[in-house]
Amino acid sequence: MDQRPLFLMTDPSCFDVSYQINPWMKPTAWRPEHAATAQTASGDLRASLQEAGAHVETIGAVRGLPDLVFPANAAVVLDGKVLLARFRHPERQGEEAVFRSVFTRLRSRGLVRELIDLPEGVLQEGAGDAIWDARRGLFWVGHGPRSTRSSVKAIARTFGREVVGLELASDRFYHLDTCFCPLSGGEVLYYPEAFTAQALATIRERLPEPQRIEATADDAAAFCVNAVNLDADLIMARAPAALKARLAAHGYRLIEVDLAPFILSGGAAYCMTLRLDRTSDAHPAILAAE
Ligand code: ARG
Repeated sequence: MDQRPLFLMTDPSCFDVSYQINPWMKPTAWRPEHAATAQTASGDLRASLQEAGAHVETIGAVRGLPDLVFPANAAVVLDGKVLLARFRHPERQGEEAVFRSVFTRLRSRGLVRELIDLPEGVLQEGAGDAIWDARRGLFWVGHGPRSTRSSVKAIARTFGREVVGLELASDRFYHLDTCFCPLSGGEVLYYPEAFTAQALATIRERLPEPQRIEATADDAAAFCVNAVNLDADLIMARAPAALKARLAAHGYRLIEVDLAPFILSGGAAYCMTLRLDRTSDAHPAILAAE
């Protein structure tokens, strides 16, 4: 059995910004030369994951589905169970059938176990809005701009684990992964302004002060909260110096990748990947590896 962390990524050959479904997306700012920089950026992210000890499965691009490069939105995956996403915007709904066949193939290779559909009427945009906190053994679930409030219960029922719902207050931070990132040491990097007052109260109630790392508006706009964490390694888009220093003080090793073309679509490191090997008993394994 391969014990390496396993991630899904997508070939960026069909990536562009040709429609607008979040305020970061500006189709008029997209230049043909961004296609080449996107290839480099995606390759650099894959190499960083591999250097950090992960294995990456890459799926093919599909013309007309530029946001397929954000597989975090494909599904919520835990213990081999795959809860398939249902997208809010018609622009991304074509991805649903593609990801279903991707997961069917992954199941036939034994890389996931079971495919599950959301209940009727529930919208849920995958791990972008349902982040597994391995340290606490729970899901943090964002809802509002994309996923519906009803997704909170659907995730709890599917996985039988604790789920904490957090309502997002702004269209700029439309997925939880743009503003909330649980870290291996128990800290959470998050951007307070992205949340409703109630969600913020929930976060502060759940996390003792020393575990809260509050991102600034600059950190959030640089998409640094959208990070991949593997033990002490933290892979993210180019970060402001002050954030780097704060994360280093908590013992994290920052691996920066220039993800500029993907930021033009409102995404970065975390949502360009989907972790497939998470299990609900990961907690002791992570402590043993430290
Ligand atoms: N353009 C994509 C969208 O608006 C970006 C998705 C980024 N994904 C994420 N989980 N933050 O849907």
